[in-house]
Amino acid sequence: MTGARHLYVHLPFCASRCGYCDFVTVVGRSGQHAAYVEALLAELELERTALSPRLESVFLGGGTPTLTEPAALERLLHALPPADEVTVEANPETVTPELAALLRRAGVNRVSLGAQTFQARLLDVLDRRAQPEDVRRAVRILREAGFDNLSLDLIYGIPGQSPDDLEADLREALALEPEHLSCYELEAKPGTRFTHAHGEELARQADALETYFERVVATLTGAGFRWYETANFCRTEERDLRSRHNLAYWRGRDYLGLGIGAVSTIGGSRWRTTPRLGVYLAALAAGQRPPREIETLDAPVQRSERVLLGLRLDEPLSLAGLHGAVDAEALERLERLGLVERGDDELALTERGRYLGGGVTAELLA
Ligand SMILES: C[S@@+](CC[C@H](N)C(=O)[O-])C[C@H]1O[C@@H](n2cnc3c(N)ncnc32)[C@H](O)[C@@H]1O
Ligand code: SF4
Repeated sequence: MTGARHLYVHLPFCASRCGYCDFVTVVGRSGQHAAYVEALLAELELERTALSPRLESVFLGGGTPTLTEPAALERLLHALPPADEVTVEANPETVTPELAALLRRAGVNRVSLGAQTFQARLLDVLDRRAQPEDVRRAVRILREAGFDNLSLDLIYGIPGQSPDDLEADLREALALEPEHLSCYELEAKPGTRFTHAHGEELARQADALETYFERVVATLTGAGFRWYETANFCRTEERDLRSRHNLAYWRGRDYLGLGIGAVSTIGGSRWRTTPRLGVYLAALAAGQRPPREIETLDAPVQRSERVLLGLRLDEPLSLAGLHGAVDAEALERLERLGLVERGDDELALTERGRYLGGGVTAELLA
């Protein structure tokens, strides 16, 4: 085994909790940032043999990585192994010239900004702290610092969002000329404040969201973006601007995750580290691995995952080794319906199939 070439690092701290979010987050606790970073680096040492000597991608996700106390964030970034693509997720209101300079100094070459929407009243519905102007300012600051690979996250399907609001969001996002855009349909995560308040409305508007998705794809591909994954778009230049880190997930590559709640998948085994900050810090301070939930992925599960994830991409999925995972009758039916295309031992969804996405793939699975 050569080791994983992709590393995820979870930085859970947030200034407040957005109602729709169910990621592993910790509000406040700025006094614990430095201790958390030391724990991450101790965990890295314990797991280092699982990593390849040469990494393709490092991704710092959150939480709000850019809220991490600057000295701790800088120490972490300098201590992590180098990689071709180093991405940090940033909340717009946290981006300052000092932060941008810190990220550049520390070798970060891609920033993913959580814009979500440019409509102040919809930002309010989402409990976001940033105002539309914060997103524009953050992009300006990052450009001035020299970043040439920026991604914006947008969310659609926000209660109260009209088709015109969506068009305005896409227009505003495009005006900022990002290299990459991720557009997610708002999901009602069980147990969140948001689902409690708006769950029924989200269920009612589910059908309308199909046309929203079509608008997103039509507008962004019309503006010259490549729709390379169900929810992800990149500019097409000489450079390949797809997210190398996320491509690794969709292609079923091994990855190591560090930090609370982080998931790793290596050599047919998947584990999730405890989401509890205190338990995590105590274990690593004692030189021990933090508790984790481990799942063994048997071969049929691995094959089904490869099909489910691989068909999200706009490149054909090689069926070598995956034949057992695909239902031959369903494949013929979906091909007749014009939802799936078969090549020489490979498979892809057609454009119509990609709009229907997961439903088509689920039917394909044996
Ligand atoms: C790890 S999250 C948050 C990163 C960062 N803290 C922020 O808020 O911008 C990454 C992205 O997931 C998306 N996201 C989070 N919760 C979601 C939900 N319930 N439905 C759809 N997208 C969601 C948002 O677009 C967000 O930018
Ligand atoms: S959406 Fe982002 S900022 Fe809001 S609570 Fe979740 S991780 Fe934190």
